[in-house]
Amino acid sequence: MGPRTSRMVESLHRKRQDATLAWTFFRQWLKAPLTTAAVSPSSRELAIEMLRELPESPRRVVELGGGTGVFTEALLARGIPAEHLLVFELNETLHLHLTQRFPQARIVCADARDIVRVLHREKFAERGGVDAIISGLGLLSMSGDLQRQILLPAFEALAPDGRFIQFTYGPTNPVKSTVMRQMGLHARRAGFTLRNLPPASVYVLTRAVSRGIKPVAAQR
Ligand SMILES: C[S@@+](CC[C@H](N)C(=O)[O-])C[C@H]1O[C@@H](n2cnc3c(N)ncnc32)[C@H](O)[C@@H]1O
Repeated sequence: MGPRTSRMVESLHRKRQDATLAWTFFRQWLKAPLTTAAVSPSSRELAIEMLRELPESPRRVVELGGGTGVFTEALLARGIPAEHLLVFELNETLHLHLTQRFPQARIVCADARDIVRVLHREKFAERGGVDAIISGLGLLSMSGDLQRQILLPAFEALAPDGRFIQFTYGPTNPVKSTVMRQMGLHARRAGFTLRNLPPASVYVLTRAVSRGIKPVAAQR
């Protein structure tokens, strides 16, 4: 087989794999539209935008809402060692799919709200031991209460300078401003891609750095 033919075969194989993944995901959306929160998996282009925001050499990375594994595949391909990545997926069918697709990876069927307990149980990290969280959760369609139930433990798990990397189909930060304020978080719009259905933006949430107001006497 010449190089051109083998490229064509590879591209055909990719297309067939993408169609199978899209179908797997769509069936779960039909069963649980609220938690699945999207009708099709994210694109590889969105995965690239998300991973661009990882710190340079992260030691521990958590993925929330693995779905069919678009971000998991990109994280492993980027060289994050399988033992330094823990993927959460709540849906049992998608969890089974992920474990079969990535037998080398650590994937738990667990709720993102239990992150601290699960990280401890899995001996993956203690509080403050995670450098970055890649989130595929549909935060935009969640109530402020649910966002808080996810983000509070997530920031307990993250290191002081840890990042929560989130995508959204909306025009602004998907986390409600009351939640941002109460938790003292800062959001930065870090990326955007048209090559996703629908087009998506990437936001990086971090703890807002308080500069501390010095009393006048102390400034002299
Ligand atoms: C919008 S999909 C994203 C899937 C994948 N990351 C992607 O980008 O294609 C959200 C995923 O999060 C999962 N999910 C929803 N709520 C969750 C929770 N509380 N804990 C863990 N996973 C959750 C859903 O089952 C679904 O697979």
